[in-house]
Amino acid sequence: MGSCRQIAAQLVAPGKGVLAADESIATMSGRLEKAGVEATAENRRRYRQLLASTPGLADGASGIIFCDETLGQDFSDGTPFAQAVRAAGVLPGIKVDTGAKPCPGLPGETVTEGLDGLPARLEHYAGIGAAFAKWRAVYVIGDGLPSAGAIRSNANALARYAAACQAAGLVPVVEPEVLMDGAHPIERCAEVTAVVQAAVREELELLGVDLAGIVLKPNMVVEGKDHPEPSSPERVAESTVEVLRAWPAGLAGVAFLSGGQPPERATANLEAMQHHPTPWPLTFSFGRALVDPALAAWHGEPALVEAGQAALAERVAANAEAVRRRAQLQPA
Ligand code: 13P
Repeated sequence: MGSCRQIAAQLVAPGKGVLAADESIATMSGRLEKAGVEATAENRRRYRQLLASTPGLADGASGIIFCDETLGQDFSDGTPFAQAVRAAGVLPGIKVDTGAKPCPGLPGETVTEGLDGLPARLEHYAGIGAAFAKWRAVYVIGDGLPSAGAIRSNANALARYAAACQAAGLVPVVEPEVLMDGAHPIERCAEVTAVVQAAVREELELLGVDLAGIVLKPNMVVEGKDHPEPSSPERVAESTVEVLRAWPAGLAGVAFLSGGQPPERATANLEAMQHHPTPWPLTFSFGRALVDPALAAWHGEPALVEAGQAALAERVAANAEAVRRRAQLQPA
């Protein structure tokens, strides 16, 4: 437990956040193809090596999340990914859920799977160098959705995963994501996010999960992506922090997902959060908002690796800068 607390604190250390590069094979393949890159295991590996070997990554990134395929791969020089990023001062993490699957009995909703055999997989990942693990549950906002059944089922799975991680000495990154799909106003997202997080808290408590040894990875509270009026960063920050206030002071920290927000918007929202004093750090664990510009700049060209890395470094630096504002606004 002690080591989980230490690693969790490291993940949310002042001025740092986590890079989520853990897209499943199917999702990553789709993104590569869209960028004009053939979706092979080798190209997925080359792309992840580009990200993970970005010069100065550790200045703004405390950790990087991979999927199972990448954690089993090596850099071109033969160094396994986990060792290579540790050597660069970044903690390697692993996505351990096996995806959001249609939930029998709950039409249109999903429950995230991956609990079967989880302790053995966690032991394996810890053995090959992983320091933390991630599990993502997704919730759709719709007419009467998310249902109480989806909220409860996903919260229970998140808690079982989190307890298993701590038993294996891996820090769980607990990700309940209320999706941006839809035209709902920000108030509706706030309401749903509060209910979803309350269920997660309850289940974590029932299973004795140590909140000082987890990182919460929630969605920001924003309007649906088809809503006509985008909320200001101040509004997003205020609404998000208000929901988060239900978490005890002992929670290690919060690292937001980006959820499909344009990169600059995610950064502006993150910066606005820093103006609110909270007992836990508020940082980033972005996927798309960090890596999309890098993939676009590289698009598979060996000669453009440095351009891809520069694009990633620029987004990491901007978000690290945003979270560093906290120290200026709230001197210890
Ligand atoms: P996004 O920041 O693209 O939402 O990804 C974060 C993540 O880890 C998804 O599970």
